[in-house]
Amino acid sequence: MQISKIVIAIDGYSACGKSTTAREVARILGYRYIDSGAMYRAVTLYFLNQHISLTNPKEIDRALQQINISFKINARNSTETFLNGLCVEEEIRDMRISDQVSPVSAIKAVREAMVAQQRKLGKEKGIVMDGRDIGTVVFPEAELKIFMSADTNVRAFRRQKELMEKNILINLDEVIENIRKRDQIDTTRTESPLRKAPDAIELDTTYITIEEQVDEVVRLAIARKVTPS
Ligand code: CDP
Repeated sequence: MQISKIVIAIDGYSACGKSTTAREVARILGYRYIDSGAMYRAVTLYFLNQHISLTNPKEIDRALQQINISFKINARNSTETFLNGLCVEEEIRDMRISDQVSPVSAIKAVREAMVAQQRKLGKEKGIVMDGRDIGTVVFPEAELKIFMSADTNVRAFRRQKELMEKNILINLDEVIENIRKRDQIDTTRTESPLRKAPDAIELDTTYITIEEQVDEVVRLAIARKVTPS
């Protein structure tokens, strides 16, 4: 059995396991995985380092022209994000970035620049992309759309554990506060707010394991497109 190339869009709230699920689904299906959140995080890192004012459209446009984001697979077979040729994979996961990424992502010019790049990456199909607006704006024609959610405390606990594994120690209340704030900005912004596409399948991950999440998405993908070999 062979699965033909489709686009899988995984959207949802902060820290409900979208990236982990998307990465593993892509590995199983032999697809390319693109973490659109990493792109917004890289833009945020650039803006912070260059002291770009979020209220100055000219400065923003100029900065966006200086930004080149790419992805590379490392020796451990995981994807790393590069900003202007430098690996920023670790730095963009920092709370310094998490605290600022949602206001940056709400800017129209930032979204237009990222969406254009994301569409280019998905042209060949055979892609799993996760984010907030993938099924609604980036790939409204995606063959499979998943909308993930989970209880806030469970999400915060998982994110804290994930950061702890990278030796980043953060108080649980701070993680909860960051998740709540980002969800609030992401769902209420004017430009491409986070919302479930009408044809997306909802997946609540509060009581299920990562393995179960992955199995479910792979099962749905196979049901969408199977080419007998
Ligand atoms: O992994 P986590 O849920 O922490 O978030 P992420 O996927 O790394 O995305 C970080 C932030 O980027 C989100 O909170 C959104 O503000 C923004 N984002 C977006 O606006 N649109 C996307 N397609 C992906 C992320």
